[in-house]
Amino acid sequence: MKQELIYEGKAKQLYASSNQGEVIIHYKDDATAFNGIKKASIENKGILNNAISTRIYRYLGEHGIRTHYLETLNESDQRCLAVTIIPLEVIVRNVAAGSFSKRLQVEEGTPLQHVVFELCYKNDDLGDPLINDDHALALGIATEADLAQIRAMTFSINQLLIQLFLQCSIELIDFKIEFGKTASGELVLADEISPDSCRLWDMESHEKLDKDRFRRDLGKVQEAYQEILDRLIGVLDK
Ligand code: TMP
Repeated sequence: MKQELIYEGKAKQLYASSNQGEVIIHYKDDATAFNGIKKASIENKGILNNAISTRIYRYLGEHGIRTHYLETLNESDQRCLAVTIIPLEVIVRNVAAGSFSKRLQVEEGTPLQHVVFELCYKNDDLGDPLINDDHALALGIATEADLAQIRAMTFSINQLLIQLFLQCSIELIDFKIEFGKTASGELVLADEISPDSCRLWDMESHEKLDKDRFRRDLGKVQEAYQEILDRLIGVLDK
């Protein structure tokens, strides 16, 4: 079923599948930050992110979000629809943190009066620069219809994820998602949703339970990812 390696990213590998129109995504233990400048291997990260992303994708699928996810094959591999990724990193911010806090000098943890939707051009050579809808249209990255659908799906996903994490006593600070087009032209949510791509803070202690522990050398990275998985299992695996 799993055939040749098609693409290797920083945290995942993409393999061809003997099933037409499908790929197999393998989650690696590798972690990078600052556009690949900081690198490490985090024990079990692939297994943890596969387990976390699996549960989040199933939850979103059950709530009407169209996604690339088909099935989890084993502890590190998923069967997914083959999609052409739209080169946009779609970021949602509910609370100020990270690059938003730095750029606009807003203290991390400050609640935002309005949900912020950002687009970055997914291009490592350029360091994934922040762009707007007009830039995306001008560069031919997406159409107006794509952008409208991406925005609508992203806000639905935000609401669903806020509710899910609330049940886990976790505050969803911000997250990054990606979209792709299937062979039939359908726009679907793609890539992973995990502590690599979200900021997740414990509701009570505000402890960071995400990749900022790696980015900022806070320690206990694996433990934080395990905590997210355990809480999701507590809520979703009934
Ligand atoms: P930022 O505050 O650094 O712009 O990050 C916003 C969100 O996007 C945060 O939840 C982490 C996530 N993210 C990625 O998934 N990949 C990236 O390359 C970066 C920079 C951020």
